[in-house]
Amino acid sequence: MTKTSNAMWGGRFAAGPDAIMEAINASIGFDQRLAHQDIAGSRAHAAMLAATGIITTKDAEAIGEGLLTVLSEIEAGNFAFSTALEDIHMNVEARLKDLIGEPAGRLHTARSRNDQVAVDFRLWVRDQCDAADTAIDALMKALVGQAETGADWVMPGFTHLQVAQPVTWGHHMLAYVEMLSRDRARFADARKRMNESPLGAAALAGTSFPIDRHMTAEALGFDRPSANSLDAVADRDFALEFLAAASICAMHLSRLSEELVIWSSAQFRFVKMSDRWSTGSSIMPQKRNPDAAELIRAKIGRIFGANVALMTVMKGLPLTYSKDMQEDKEQVFDAADNLLLALAAMAGMVADMTGQQDNLCKAAATGFSTATDLADWLVRTLGLPFREAHHVTGSLVALAESKGCDLPELSLAEMQSVHAAITTSVFDVLGVDNSVASRTSYGGTAPDQVRVQIARWKEILG
Ligand code: ARG
Repeated sequence: MTKTSNAMWGGRFAAGPDAIMEAINASIGFDQRLAHQDIAGSRAHAAMLAATGIITTKDAEAIGEGLLTVLSEIEAGNFAFSTALEDIHMNVEARLKDLIGEPAGRLHTARSRNDQVAVDFRLWVRDQCDAADTAIDALMKALVGQAETGADWVMPGFTHLQVAQPVTWGHHMLAYVEMLSRDRARFADARKRMNESPLGAAALAGTSFPIDRHMTAEALGFDRPSANSLDAVADRDFALEFLAAASICAMHLSRLSEELVIWSSAQFRFVKMSDRWSTGSSIMPQKRNPDAAELIRAKIGRIFGANVALMTVMKGLPLTYSKDMQEDKEQVFDAADNLLLALAAMAGMVADMTGQQDNLCKAAATGFSTATDLADWLVRTLGLPFREAHHVTGSLVALAESKGCDLPELSLAEMQSVHAAITTSVFDVLGVDNSVASRTSYGGTAPDQVRVQIARWKEILG
């Protein structure tokens, strides 16, 4: 049986599409998520068509009202989406026609699905930038809360995952706050740049109707209409910038997740995850698994994957619109959903976790973590060149290692066997508390510095 041609664009077609053609062509399965934006865009367009005298006020009112009815049907789950109608734009318009008849056919004057989808998707991505901002804010607050609890808790700082120097828990938490504030700025920056309205670019060349693009731009909360109609329908930078910002943010989350996985292990015991964020094993009764952290760690895979996928879709496309660009949406939807889920889970996990102060402090005192303090003492007190001090300290570390102790446990005589001028005041710098307290350089790990930064963040985050 031959299907009838498409009611929206089938004028020149005698027969309908092959079923497989319909399946590959349709986007309604996913772009129905743009219903809200599509209807907002159409309402703004209809009002503008009336204000400029292109359609009558009566028709514009019927269109505006009818679109609200369509929206309420969709929101109530009473809308029968049709694959034959391809996408959200034609599904909405077809239903509008059922509801109001002839005036529905005037809505598409001076417009194309090319500028329509560009405006819908931009509005959607813009909302996601705002949602990411809110979610990042909550996570930053949770981290600042942790920093406040343990501003002066001493823990090992690592490089190469080897104990490097003692640092403070508060300092470590605030490192992530810094990263997240850059993520936030990236979303804000992308949002600012994407906030131009493509509506009125029509298919690609603009239109001969006397439209008012400034009016629709303003109605939809855009800063201005885009200045080039070809660019307006061909551009997907806004989605790519969102995905790039999301990828970097997800990368940060994966690093924090990895630390939580390591820290909650029996070998570390730096942190106890709350029951609300842990899972058990079906066979090993003792297990307490950090599944949420592991899943967040993995989210970067799909989010960065979406970034690569869309970049690859857009690469080499000639101006202006190509149907390839329909492949932009699912990736962005999935990345946005998962980023927001990951941010929310991380905020909950961080707020609920308990740093294990004693274990952190004990671990800080292992691995010769105050060796740098010893070398600095040799420079400051004995006037040794740093390179020589480094060498002497290395010998002392080797000596301690051979005796199976850490640096503070060496006797003065043992110290002097390596360098005769060492005095007893050296022991003042070998404790971890003194070590962190001495790191008072701006941005350093000293508790006083950390408290200054906590105060700054509390002021910023409100
Ligand atoms: N469903 C399409 C998309 O997502 C809408 C634009 C269709 N435009 C066209 N010229 N066929 O990209």
